[in-house]
Amino acid sequence: MNVTAIVPAAGTGRRMEHHSKKPYLLLQGKPLLAWVLAVLDAVPAVTQIVIPVHPGDEQRCQQEVVEPAGLQTPVAIVTGGAQRQDSVRNGLAAVTAKCDIVLVHDAARPLVTRALIEASLAATQVYHATTVAVPVKDTIAMINPEQRIIEQFPDRARLYSVQTPQTFTRDLLQQAHHMACAEGYIGTDDASLVARLGVPVAIVPGIYTNIKITTPEDLLIAEALLQQGAL
Ligand code: CTP
Ligand code: MG
Repeated sequence: MNVTAIVPAAGTGRRMEHHSKKPYLLLQGKPLLAWVLAVLDAVPAVTQIVIPVHPGDEQRCQQEVVEPAGLQTPVAIVTGGAQRQDSVRNGLAAVTAKCDIVLVHDAARPLVTRALIEASLAATQVYHATTVAVPVKDTIAMINPEQRIIEQFPDRARLYSVQTPQTFTRDLLQQAHHMACAEGYIGTDDASLVARLGVPVAIVPGIYTNIKITTPEDLLIAEALLQQGAL
């Protein structure tokens, strides 16, 4: 298995309401993106890391994150796009020819573990597409956005929060992006693009600590989890 990890890091982190973009925000003194790179670097199957960054941040990423991380794995920094999907697509164009599996993991999920990456990669022996996911804890409602009233309460037992890492055979992910692009479909993750092709996406059981840093309190939660030795 020859794995390239794509780490989308080109967002601005609008919901964080912070002047610095999310991948460069510090968690215990280390940029969020650096936490992710350190975990990926420790997984022998990962032979290349591709990082799409915000246009103009290529040097910043190299100097602030990649160089200090002192990684063994070769890294390619590429220019990201307007949507996460565009960033991953740009990342795919930089994947080496020998890669057969692509693993996508958000820069905004710094508490991912080596075990989770390895469980995700192990599942690729059986499935062409996988995502880490956890059962939702809250009751989830589907609302009517105009009237702001609840239309439906989907059965919670069937609802999962979809996280990353996600893994795909390279050709399948390329095909899914090509199709989404051609049809003008924009998804918030890669599994949804693959599912549109009618290909089943298998669930790899996740961990609740693998949170996405999205709003300011998430960073406090991550600090607390680390202090309590959650990793
Ligand atoms: N991402 C990306 N390119 C974009 C948008 C997002 O590579 N055009 C990346 C982010 O850097 C992040 C991951 O995709 O690592 C998940 O996205 P999200 O949590 O939504 O981050 P942001 O888009 O930066 O945040 P917000 O939506 O609050 O602006
Ligand atoms: Mg976003």
